[in-house]
Amino acid sequence: YDATPYLPGRRAGLAGLRRAAASCRGCPLYEDATQTVFGEGDSDARILLLGEQPGDQEDRQGRPFVGPAGRVLERALADAGIDPAGAYVTNAVKHFKFVVPEGRKRRIHKAPSLREMTACRPWLEAELRVVRPDVVVALGATAGKALLGSSFRVTERRGALLQWPGFDGGADAGGGGVVDEGILGLVATIHPSAVLRADDRDAVYAGLVSDLRVAARALD
Ligand code: URA
Repeated sequence: YDATPYLPGRRAGLAGLRRAAASCRGCPLYEDATQTVFGEGDSDARILLLGEQPGDQEDRQGRPFVGPAGRVLERALADAGIDPAGAYVTNAVKHFKFVVPEGRKRRIHKAPSLREMTACRPWLEAELRVVRPDVVVALGATAGKALLGSSFRVTERRGALLQWPGFDGGADAGGGGVVDEGILGLVATIHPSAVLRADDRDAVYAGLVSDLRVAARALD
């Protein structure tokens, strides 16, 4: 699995990348998904927010973080003092992976495999190369692992400004060239959907906002 053959030339901007990603066949996830959900936002954004993969709503609408998790994220960004207009939002994997349990209609999110994450990674590298954010925020374990390797534990490392690993940083990251020019660092936090699943939503939400504030301060 590898998206590399589908990437446009190095000089492509976000529009060209998005167009090319729409017909990516770099892994089998395109077969069942409705469409590629590419990143969105300002090409000059100072902060890049990285999720896991599109969910059901995102798959239907073709835009990242437009479902329930997106609403949590939007509110948390506002509470952390981060202007969403100055952010670029994308996912580690650009197609929705799901299962439909027997006798059910609803599509249930399934975590992407390391192989799928590695296959999709060239798109993220290309986005980082164009946007060159100051800070990257990894939303949840999958995003953290996509950037820092599979041994990454979000519970242990969240809420601190970590050194940007480049793209040879994670031992199993798959390589593809270092993208580190100008990137100050990385902040990992929980995925906004964890707030929706939690019993103590308020506390979990407060933790998300407090981690996002670390990223906001790094931008000052
Ligand atoms: N969850 C994600 O990780 N990304 C999205 O775009 C939506 C939900």
